[in-house]
Amino acid sequence: MRKIPLCIPYVGQEEKDAVNEVIDSGWYAHGPKNREFEEGFADYLGVKHAFSMNSCTSAIHLSVEGLGITGEVILPSFTFVASANAVITGGARPVFADIEYETCNIDPASIERLITPETEAIMPVHFGGQSADMTSIMEIAAKHNLLVIEDSAETIGGEHQGQLTGTFGVGCFSFYPTKNITTGEGGMLTTNDDQLAHKVKALLGHGIDKTTYEREDKEKSWFRSASRIGYNFRLSNILAAIGVEQLKKLELMNEKRRSLAALLTLGLSEIPEITPPYVKSENKHVYQMYTVRVNQNLDRDQFVRNLNKKGIGASVHFYPPVHHMAPYQGDIYRKDGLEITEKVIREIVTLPMYPGMADDDIHYMVQSIKEVLSEFK
Ligand SMILES: Cc1ncc(COP(=O)(O)O)c(C=O)c1O
Repeated sequence: MRKIPLCIPYVGQEEKDAVNEVIDSGWYAHGPKNREFEEGFADYLGVKHAFSMNSCTSAIHLSVEGLGITGEVILPSFTFVASANAVITGGARPVFADIEYETCNIDPASIERLITPETEAIMPVHFGGQSADMTSIMEIAAKHNLLVIEDSAETIGGEHQGQLTGTFGVGCFSFYPTKNITTGEGGMLTTNDDQLAHKVKALLGHGIDKTTYEREDKEKSWFRSASRIGYNFRLSNILAAIGVEQLKKLELMNEKRRSLAALLTLGLSEIPEITPPYVKSENKHVYQMYTVRVNQNLDRDQFVRNLNKKGIGASVHFYPPVHHMAPYQGDIYRKDGLEITEKVIREIVTLPMYPGMADDDIHYMVQSIKEVLSEFK
């Protein structure tokens, strides 16, 4: 039987050579490859500062803490739990907004309804490779004087009105293996704000302002005094070397994802029980995930299990939504007004999507979906 996992990282000889080179160099911890990765990432986005770190979760945490946010942050409940967790560990309180039905991205109208004197920031999550409605979100932020943090973990290279996600506010990106580029584990925080950059740089390395490689050629390289209480959120030089190579392939990988997605959408368009992803005309979708909806009268879970039996690594993102989870049951967390979220979580299915997929895999998936649906009848 054919096996099509949910994702296979697109990693080749270039990454292996780069890792070997770093191993031979003897510099394993945070080092010169981090700087190269950060400069490349900042250049790609056209922003002033980029900081590599161990995860996107850490990037969100440091955005919140670095910006000094202690009040409410509005974000969707329809996201990976890390989005909300990191708002809390960063020192603020998540307030859950509803999503737009078609894109599964945060609904600007829902954001507006939730703004209170306690609101300090909006955190859209660019779901699965497609930008949230950043035009409306930036207008709301400007009108109410709110900060914007973008959880762009699932979108590297996606655009809204020709502008890359993560460049509207503070950008937080993930390099987990299923993402548009990977370092195994890893993340990046991007910003044009010099003051935030200064804080983040120190916070991610024990509160010390200068990194080891910056101190190396100084007269007293051993001088490492902390200017604030910090963390160890650093990414190793070995993983940063993988990131440097992955970044070079980002456009190629995203184009592969986009053409495979177009082929899949074409195949699925003949199947009335399945609704392919909706892409807004002002967005460039980079398909970190390919999510479809199944008709509500079908048993979604059984549909996923039956695809799994055919070797297709279908899954569900996201179930449950954050506001259903045990740590978020306290009265301080909002659970009402999330009707679209409640509907979407019962219909959504993630199909495998990765740059190394063959056209034949797509045809096999479409055929298998037809077979699974006919078994339901
Ligand atoms: C929307 C979203 N935010 C945050 C994260 C956390 O990223 P990381 O695993 O790099 O901490 C993830 C993903 O895995 C995610 O999907």
